[in-house]
Amino acid sequence: MSLHSSGHPLVAHKLAILRDKTTEPKKFRELVRELTWLLGYEAMADLATRPEPIETPLEPMTAARLEPRVGLILILRAGLGMVDAMLELLPTVEVWHIGLYRDERTLKPVEYYNKLPDAATVQICLILDPMLATGGSSAATVDILKEWGAARIKQVSLIAAPEGVATLSAAHPDVDIHVAALDSHLNERGYIVPGLGDAGDRQFGTFAGPASEPGHAADDETAEVVRRLQRGIGES
Ligand code: PRP
Ligand code: URA
Repeated sequence: MSLHSSGHPLVAHKLAILRDKTTEPKKFRELVRELTWLLGYEAMADLATRPEPIETPLEPMTAARLEPRVGLILILRAGLGMVDAMLELLPTVEVWHIGLYRDERTLKPVEYYNKLPDAATVQICLILDPMLATGGSSAATVDILKEWGAARIKQVSLIAAPEGVATLSAAHPDVDIHVAALDSHLNERGYIVPGLGDAGDRQFGTFAGPASEPGHAADDETAEVVRRLQRGIGES
């Protein structure tokens, strides 16, 4: 398993404000953007460079240019808030959107949008999604990208649960996972604890009411899905 959890104090500081339930959507969006910038920078530390001769105003030299073609794959809708920061780091990359939402009862990902071209056009795919909870959305995205022909894939998320990391690593051990924090566990509704709540709702101010709150009691089917995932970790 290749899990990189940032130990950077700036990341920890910004994440603390992001998690706080009193943080408003405007501030929340700013922090998602800033954290993505910092995590993206860390996630790309091992990208290959090629030598390129250039001339500075003083003399010729051999400089380093980024070698691989990188593509950003953002998972709608919560991944939207991560794109601008990555585009600041990599202004010329291709950006692809995949629409997935998590069925609230089964916790399984449901695909509703995918306009990837027939064959892969990039060598490295960075999947952007703030939350890696059960890992279902992420593993499904990697399935899609591998079928597309993606050679190398990294997942950049703000917070992961151990259950999600285990699911993604078991299905796709070759995928690097970069996060700001690895949290304790999933609650019976499949929300990350302590987490930050619903990343999409908190970015876009869409609060559907108490029954949809991350801490609200789950029905039996959902709770059993979570227990199964947790037993899986215990056995591995
Ligand atoms: C959230 C999040 C991930 C997914 C993670 O999206 O952005 O895509 O849940 O959960 P998983 O690891 O258990 O699959 P959500 O389904 O809430 O959709 P939204 O972004 O449209 O709000
Ligand atoms: N999706 C979220 O937005 N938050 C969680 O904790 C789990 C899934």
